[in-house]
Amino acid sequence: MPVPILPCPPDTPDHGVIERAGRTLRDGGLVAIPTETVYGLAANALDPVAVAAIFTAKGRPASDPLIVHVDGPAMADAVVEGTLPKTAATLAAAFWPGPLTLVLPRNDAVPAAVSSGLDTVGVRCPAHPVALAIIAAAGVPLAAPSANRFGRVSPTSALHVAEELGDRLDLIIDGGRCDAGVESTVVAIDDDTAVVLRHGAIPIEALAQHVPVRAVDARTEAARASPGHDQRHYSPGAATTAVVPGFVPTADDGGDVLYLGYTDAVPVLPPGWRFVALGSRADLEGVARRLYDTLRAADAEQPARIVVELSGAAGIGRAIDDRLTRAGSSRVVASGDSPI
Ligand code: TXA
Ligand code: MG
Repeated sequence: MPVPILPCPPDTPDHGVIERAGRTLRDGGLVAIPTETVYGLAANALDPVAVAAIFTAKGRPASDPLIVHVDGPAMADAVVEGTLPKTAATLAAAFWPGPLTLVLPRNDAVPAAVSSGLDTVGVRCPAHPVALAIIAAAGVPLAAPSANRFGRVSPTSALHVAEELGDRLDLIIDGGRCDAGVESTVVAIDDDTAVVLRHGAIPIEALAQHVPVRAVDARTEAARASPGHDQRHYSPGAATTAVVPGFVPTADDGGDVLYLGYTDAVPVLPPGWRFVALGSRADLEGVARRLYDTLRAADAEQPARIVVELSGAAGIGRAIDDRLTRAGSSRVVASGDSPI
């Protein structure tokens, strides 16, 4: 039987749908929920059997920790050991509800499997009204990774979830398109400093207005500090290559290629290449919002190769470039490099 996809618009949430989602989650089921970043594959974070089902459904290695979603500070306190460090409290006050995940000491109430055995837990209070209502209806914190098969492109619509995991979950709640389009910013706390483990929807510049910030080098340090930070991730099925901002292809690069770039400066493309717009560099929020949708649509055309151009920008550009770099297995090709 196909999985039920139940509409629940954010501005007029359907209480019957929210109750059903809450009940399914309390009963140990798997429910895809909308958030402001991407869709999550949710289960009761306090139920080890339900948590194990998340890993199985996604084909996710047990070494990749899950984020626990709460509906406010009281529920956060229930999953965190001790009181919130001051830096974390400052960030939570500034950015929750919102796309910020705080890595904090894990309380014993949370099964170790949620955090892949780490003594920390990633906690986030999402801003999507449907997500908040479902957490409240479930009455328990929800472990929820992005609702895609492991390593693949994250879903930003209910339809994407159905394509990815349709036969592996109990319910999909359709809360419309995700607003941010890229995942939350993941932050560990080092004394008074926010240590960015994963660039995301909240740019480091915004964090820096509240606390000192440093970002780990995604290619080296993050791999250790934040397991699950794979070099190949967010990947279409087609072979994908990331290229530098302003990349200039050469005629030898001909072939069946989709080139995902910016409308502000479309390069002269070799024979066989077609241009697909990521959007304008002047609207990188828009680029982020549509990013996974654009990658998915490009993949559906089954080209021999997808080439994606990095933004090279600060702010939300860092999250865009992080995802595009991983989509290209963490190799970035410069103009003149051969083969691409
Ligand atoms: O926006 C988001 O964060 C979405 C929505 C659904 O909330 N969720 C999401 O989950 O992106 P996921 O599973 O795709 O990414 C979780 C990542 C892990 O791979 C890891 O990098 C980091 O968050 N993480 C989680 N818990 C951690 C911990 N205890 N220590 C370090 N990193 C952690
Ligand atoms: Mg993910």
